[in-house]
Amino acid sequence: MSEAVIIDGKGLAQELREELGHRVTELRAQVGRPPALTVILVGEDPASQVYVRNKERACEKAGIRGEVLRLPASTSAGEIHREILRINEDPSVDGLLVQLPVPDGIDPAALREWIDPAKDVDGLHPRNVGLLASGMPGLVPCTPLGCLRMLRHHHVATAGARAVVLGRSLIVGRPMAALLSAKGVDATVTLAHSRSRDLAAICRQADILVAAAGVPQLVQPDWVRRGATVLDVGIHRVDDPTHPKGARLVGDVDPGVREVAGYLSPVPGGVGPMTIAMLLENTVTAFCRREGLEAGGES
Ligand code: GUN
Repeated sequence: MSEAVIIDGKGLAQELREELGHRVTELRAQVGRPPALTVILVGEDPASQVYVRNKERACEKAGIRGEVLRLPASTSAGEIHREILRINEDPSVDGLLVQLPVPDGIDPAALREWIDPAKDVDGLHPRNVGLLASGMPGLVPCTPLGCLRMLRHHHVATAGARAVVLGRSLIVGRPMAALLSAKGVDATVTLAHSRSRDLAAICRQADILVAAAGVPQLVQPDWVRRGATVLDVGIHRVDDPTHPKGARLVGDVDPGVREVAGYLSPVPGGVGPMTIAMLLENTVTAFCRREGLEAGGES
């Protein structure tokens, strides 16, 4: 039996970022300023610091003006609100996100509502959530957008396909289900979660399985139909004394799934790099809409 084709998210993201870089050069010449993204990082969560640095670097390489506003963990909700309102009003900034998680005591639901929906490159503002649910153009969360792009790149048939999304988060599971069931994508979607009865049987129905449950190596080989496409959104650091760094990254999908799936996105090097590429694309989309230009892209 042949092994799954491994979806090279890193390579695809690199291609997309290079294309976007050319587009940014043209847009900059046309408009007289580059697209700009501001990331607010509250506190010192080590993983968030790495993610934010990666976003900064990706912006720089694509010619996008990337700025990080680092605030101490002790910053009050009121101060964060003031900063968000200031950036909302800043005409030179197109995209704004607050890196998650935020420290205890800050309500992420409130943050989502403070960001100008036109600059909400995470696609988490209720207006953007509603636009996606209504099939209207808005800004769509980056990870599900990246997953859809991976399916398209490999010409995975979605129309009429059975798709199972594991996990109902606002940032991945729910928007992924909305995108897969949208007109033009046309999958039949099941949104499964931690309270779903017999997850394994539900997953075995899937032609396309998106694992975003947040549970290390949850999806076992016998949960996957032979030839199915499996996208692994999980990322977990697990101790491994045999690894040179003492730990390694695993996803929500057991490595044995490789023997069964038709296509499989790896961790690392799969969905993660695509998320960053889509963040850059969303920033350019927001820039174009704010400047009254044709946006292109997905959202
Ligand atoms: N933390 C981990 N992933 C994300 C993301 O996509 N957006 C934000 N804002 N924070 C994150």
